Amino acid sequence: MLNIENIRKDFPIFSRKVNGKPLVYFDNAATSQTPTQVIDVIVDYYSNYNANIHRGVHSLSQEATDKYEQARLKIQKHFNAKHSHEIIMTSGTTHGINLVANGFSSFLKKGDEVLVSALEHHSNIVPWQMLCERSGTTLRVIPMNQDGELIMSEYDQLLSEKTKLVFVNHISNALGTINPIKYIIDKAHSFGAAVLVDGAQACPHLKPDLQQLDVDFYVASAHKMCGPTGVGMLYGKEEWLKKLPPYQGGGEMIAEVTFEKTTYADLPHKFEAGTPNICGGIAFGAAIDYLNHIGFDAIESYEHELLEYATEKLSEIDGLKIYGTSKHKTSVVSFNLEEIHPYDVGTILDKMGIAVRTGHHCAQPIMDYFKIPGTVRASFAFYNTKQEIDALVEGVKKAKAMLS
Ligand code: ALA
Repeated sequence: MLNIENIRKDFPIFSRKVNGKPLVYFDNAATSQTPTQVIDVIVDYYSNYNANIHRGVHSLSQEATDKYEQARLKIQKHFNAKHSHEIIMTSGTTHGINLVANGFSSFLKKGDEVLVSALEHHSNIVPWQMLCERSGTTLRVIPMNQDGELIMSEYDQLLSEKTKLVFVNHISNALGTINPIKYIIDKAHSFGAAVLVDGAQACPHLKPDLQQLDVDFYVASAHKMCGPTGVGMLYGKEEWLKKLPPYQGGGEMIAEVTFEKTTYADLPHKFEAGTPNICGGIAFGAAIDYLNHIGFDAIESYEHELLEYATEKLSEIDGLKIYGTSKHKTSVVSFNLEEIHPYDVGTILDKMGIAVRTGHHCAQPIMDYFKIPGTVRASFAFYNTKQEIDALVEGVKKAKAMLS
């Protein structure tokens, strides 16, 4: 059982007001808030041991390197990767996906196929379209149904010996649907295809076991997990990361450079050109510690309560339609009020101090499927409360009265 009152004290931002009202923060799917335990680590880094890593013999550099590599170990342990060198530090989910897509262009040829799900964020669509343009590969789409679930019988039909790669999110950012990724991975493997899972929306809510999933690539961002922006991780199975060519060239990713030929560093450094977000990486480790201290079982069950409460209360409003009605959902409620534009609802809610996201949520194909321009999306985290949901429901009622 979580002590929400105490947990909220960890987050300085919750003591501020927005537009004269207490902040109600329901845009967690875009970015989560940051606890003092993580903020302190950031301040400590810049106050006490700011230095470049992997390069200096001096003490500050050693200290920063040790802390950065400890963060990699924390990430490895958290996700249950077999080796720490299977964890590549990135600038975020988008970076990780682009790194894999870029590398795969050397393996694909005309006639090959890759499968994308209808539920993807643009960051898990566009890099693959760019890949297909370069390699002549065909992109096929696993369709969804009216509940916002992928249709697995159609997926089965799409898979063939031509399929080389499947990319799918663990949880949809726009609708909250939890996808059956274990089924998707096992089925793809039976055709010899690799699978990349975008875990950006899943990792704040649950703890994936990457070895148990047997996934080939998994990507996530720290800023959805109470960490800072601009840092994330790409997990790749060792065998894949060894095969993939480097993404960016530069310092740190080499073994030896001459003008005739360069050889590359071992994993993970082969994929980590340039000075990374050192402080961000260390803070990512601290954020993982923080979430594990709260506990993922408790997070999952409390957020489920919030989801059920919000779904019930919002559904009582006449003319409100929820998009994403799967039974397998995390704490996201995407909705519209009659024909009212989501942007107008979001603007009125903001005046009341309530932060939601409005628009297509970087998932235009989902909006096209439902024939809507966008939705109002309220996404909850473990530090939110039912009282805040009551404030949202009142706010939506007011918005409806003003805009109808
Ligand atoms: N992908 C993030 C979202 O869904 C930004 O809001």
